[in-house]
Amino acid sequence: MEQYVIKGGTPLKGEVEISGAKNAALAILAAAIMTDETVTVTNLPDVRDINVLLQSIEGIGAIVKRESRNSVKINGGTIRSVTVDYEYIKKIRASYYLLGALLGRFNEAEVALPGGCDIGTRPIDQHIKGFKALGAEVVIEHGMIKTKAEHLVGSHIYMDVVSVGATINIMLAAALAEGSTIIENAAKEPHVVDVANMLNSMGANIKGAGTDVIRIKGVEKLHKTEYSVIPDQIEAGTFMFAAAATNGNVLVKNVIPKHLEAITAKLLEIGCTIEEYDDAVRVIGTRDLRSTQVKTLPYPGYPTDMQPQIAVTLAISKGTSIVTESIFENRFKYVAELARMGANIKVEGNTAIIDGVEQLTGAEISAPDLRAGAALVIAALTAKGFTTIDDIVYIQRGYENFEGKLTSLGACIEKVTSEKEIQKFKLKVG
Ligand code: EPZ
Repeated sequence: MEQYVIKGGTPLKGEVEISGAKNAALAILAAAIMTDETVTVTNLPDVRDINVLLQSIEGIGAIVKRESRNSVKINGGTIRSVTVDYEYIKKIRASYYLLGALLGRFNEAEVALPGGCDIGTRPIDQHIKGFKALGAEVVIEHGMIKTKAEHLVGSHIYMDVVSVGATINIMLAAALAEGSTIIENAAKEPHVVDVANMLNSMGANIKGAGTDVIRIKGVEKLHKTEYSVIPDQIEAGTFMFAAAATNGNVLVKNVIPKHLEAITAKLLEIGCTIEEYDDAVRVIGTRDLRSTQVKTLPYPGYPTDMQPQIAVTLAISKGTSIVTESIFENRFKYVAELARMGANIKVEGNTAIIDGVEQLTGAEISAPDLRAGAALVIAALTAKGFTTIDDIVYIQRGYENFEGKLTSLGACIEKVTSEKEIQKFKLKVG
């Protein structure tokens, strides 16, 4: 089992290049199978969830050619099955995008019920509501979601909750439906816009992505494209908080600063200095980080995927902070691990009350999920002494070469697989 071993206390300094957005790329790869022509996707992050999805796309008969670490060519012309029932697909949430993509293209799809990080119950009723509105039947049987339509017909759909996944899934299916679809109360996240742009580059007719009303005019067929995925706002935000928490000075490159506004605002509030460039942001930390209040909300609010990273930073900031999680009900599991490092956090319902401490201390901890895992790495980078983190497989789902990028910023971190390697690391870094 792979673990991270980290020696804390070094301020992060230098430059880091952000990879493509995992959550945009997952939907874009699903969209790529909606034509029988070849689609090229570049700026693809080389992370576990992406590789699992590519395997399952290959598994249903598409031709998947990895051109390089960050680009892939997909040809869906050879797809021979609309059933995605692989052990591994259940482990990733985005397997549900294959439902929308296959339903749109073949009027039929069967996909194993999605898993993903355990951060709440994560219902998919809004996805199902959308497919049904387009004229499909949907049943759940033996752990599979099965959906089928005579033919899909555009519809007017009001989303009861703002859902990134459901918005994208309906957009995928509706792109090839007959007539017009209107999605109201749509999610506005940058990756929703990216998927719409990608589909439009394949010949779809989607307008309004990025607002809460998306209008889709169905087209007969989609065609080849070459598309570059947007930068990952959450990876960028994670490095921004890592710079802040370690009192560092980091230039975070290949980002869209507009997508980072909610994160930047909070960093300024707690006392950091931010310099904004066209496609980069510099974060300069301070020894005197201050407390704040934050509530996670759909975009353009503060992202739930950045909640653990800010909480960890506030755990070593002066004063009492309040963090409210309003999207997922089970996203404070890292608090118990953080307490073992000396943090003073009390969770009441969906709120964490954080009393900042001077410094955390290294401990043996586990990553409970992807973003919490990354946040615990930040905690370890600030802590006194050594920390080992188990279950880093979660972190690898969504961060490309996390330890490599941190090392290039001066962090003392290594991926290890045995106690012997941990001891070797400790001897090396002293
Ligand atoms: C996406 O999950 C991301 N995953 C998540 O990222 C992210 O946390 C989340 O959006 C919010 O930004 C992928 O893109 C693969 P939602 P998703 O549907 O689509 C409720 C990460 O760390 N809801 O926007 O599953 C739901 O319970 C991951 O990279 C329904 O009630 O999230 C939640 O409270 C973790 N019914 C809220 O809506 C539905 O049918 C938002 O969920 C769908 C969702």
